[in-house]
Amino acid sequence: MNSTIADLKTRFEQALVAAFGEDYANTDPLLVPTSNPKFGDYQANVAMSLAKPLGKAPRAIAEQLRHHLDVSDLCEPPTVAGPGFINLTLKTAYLEGQLHAIQADPRLGVASVKDPKRVIVDYPSPNIAKEMHVGHLRPAIIGDCIARILEFVGHDVQRISHVGDWGTPFGMLIAHLRASYPKALTSTANLDLGDLSTFYRQAKQRFNADETFREAARLSVVQLQAGEQETLHAWKIVCELSSRSYQKIYDLMGILPVMERGESFYNPFLPDVVVELDALGLLVEDNGAKCVFLEGFTNKDGNPLPLIVQKSDGGYNYAATDLAAIRYRVQVDRAQRVIYPVGAEQTNHFVQIFQVGRRAGWITDNVEFFHAPFGFVLGENGQKLKTREGDAIPLKELLHEAIAHARQDLETRLAAEGRQETDAFIANVAQVVGIGAVKYADLSQNRTSNYIFSYDKMLALQGNTAPYMLYAYVRVQGISRKGQIDFEKLGANAKIVLQEETELVLAKHLLQLEDVLNQVSQDLLPNRLCQYLFELSQKFNQFYDRCPVLQAEEPLRTSRLVLCDLTARTLKLGLSLLGIPLLERM
Ligand code: ARG
Repeated sequence: MNSTIADLKTRFEQALVAAFGEDYANTDPLLVPTSNPKFGDYQANVAMSLAKPLGKAPRAIAEQLRHHLDVSDLCEPPTVAGPGFINLTLKTAYLEGQLHAIQADPRLGVASVKDPKRVIVDYPSPNIAKEMHVGHLRPAIIGDCIARILEFVGHDVQRISHVGDWGTPFGMLIAHLRASYPKALTSTANLDLGDLSTFYRQAKQRFNADETFREAARLSVVQLQAGEQETLHAWKIVCELSSRSYQKIYDLMGILPVMERGESFYNPFLPDVVVELDALGLLVEDNGAKCVFLEGFTNKDGNPLPLIVQKSDGGYNYAATDLAAIRYRVQVDRAQRVIYPVGAEQTNHFVQIFQVGRRAGWITDNVEFFHAPFGFVLGENGQKLKTREGDAIPLKELLHEAIAHARQDLETRLAAEGRQETDAFIANVAQVVGIGAVKYADLSQNRTSNYIFSYDKMLALQGNTAPYMLYAYVRVQGISRKGQIDFEKLGANAKIVLQEETELVLAKHLLQLEDVLNQVSQDLLPNRLCQYLFELSQKFNQFYDRCPVLQAEEPLRTSRLVLCDLTARTLKLGLSLLGIPLLERM
């Protein structure tokens, strides 16, 4: 099915050619939803932009376009308003037909894209040998959501976690393991990352305090980089333990499987990066380090800033590894779009590596590399969220606390309602609501802003929150269930009749899912989907307040039940794309 806006666009393109000739075949009609429903549903703003090239008044252009515009099957007769807006109001019969079509469609009218791309989403990419902490919340939630949406609209999506699994922290950890816990090197059985994170802290303390230890740690790094067997073995143990403990957190969060392909994976390709950059004449030696001087970046003295590719000791850093990853993702993975949902504090890093990638010819016009930055998670005091001791809060703790809060809310509610539920029911609802609340609170904010992490706010039953949305689903679904109608059977014959204003408003909103998903696929702002779902439940409530459903006469009764069913299915699909499972009862 074509989305309404895509259909209208085609009609405008035809009208533009008919009115002004082939030169205007690819002119964007600048179609947007109207700001105010009293002007109709959509407006085309193209007349204003054509005033100059055509040398005519926009209003006259709009009139001419309107004359050639054939939208009679979709819209009421278009009107021209203001300086030259063309306003369009969708016909009720058209809306009824569209709803009828999506009713039978498991994708609810969302077509698969015509030009599927091979996409890599790089997340959550934590630095391992350390427990996951609050800083990994956003990449996991946002990355998972972006990947789900892109996959749903039809792209070929690879989820790759670019874990920090190489370098200095491992030297420290290996040295500490060797000295204090040699058993850990021979068996992984009784060790979980909780222990490892304690090890990490101890190792760090020792590293800061003890010069001999620092030497041993440095030696371990050298041995690791030299591929020394026993050291590699120790390193692998640390990596495996980390992966296993991360997997537990991803499972708890409902993050779909990601492929771990860490920094170490690119080690064999690092020398090639240097050779290639050198052959292109991009590499400059600066104090023994091999660098690329960046365009548009200067240090405080106004001199060009170097991006170090290989340090003077021969070692490689974060940027060099990312350059190798760029090259690999284009040349071997054949990616056409690579998305990095990573904190805004790394903006410069990405601008720089993308610049070098482009100058090296790895990133061409056919490949899009995109850093999707996000803001910080703040505590209620407006500062970065930390423990009382000033450490980053372990992710596991944060999630379990969200579940505990959700459970408390639930138990209070059950007691107030005098309901008895099984432990399994309570545990499940608390987990879905608790985790869903954390995710929804994150995704419903504009990705680029910081946001305040508040259990009370995210668990509120009113407002743009997960519990509100989950409830909306339970309620809506309950209505159509009460109607005892088998929608799957009814789909093809159910007649849709839209009479009341609230029905029309709901119908139009239901039909916008595809546009919203297409937009999120472009700008990667999941808050648009949250806002859409929130408005859907509000529009549904207005409809339900105003229109009897089960008590209505046929054909209205069935038609309204279909509106309920479509609303429930849209909420279900939308929430699943946010990574939030539903509850049938809560
Ligand atoms: N490991 C990095 C960190 O924790 C994030 C990596 C993001 N991905 C990338 N390709 N640089 O800060």
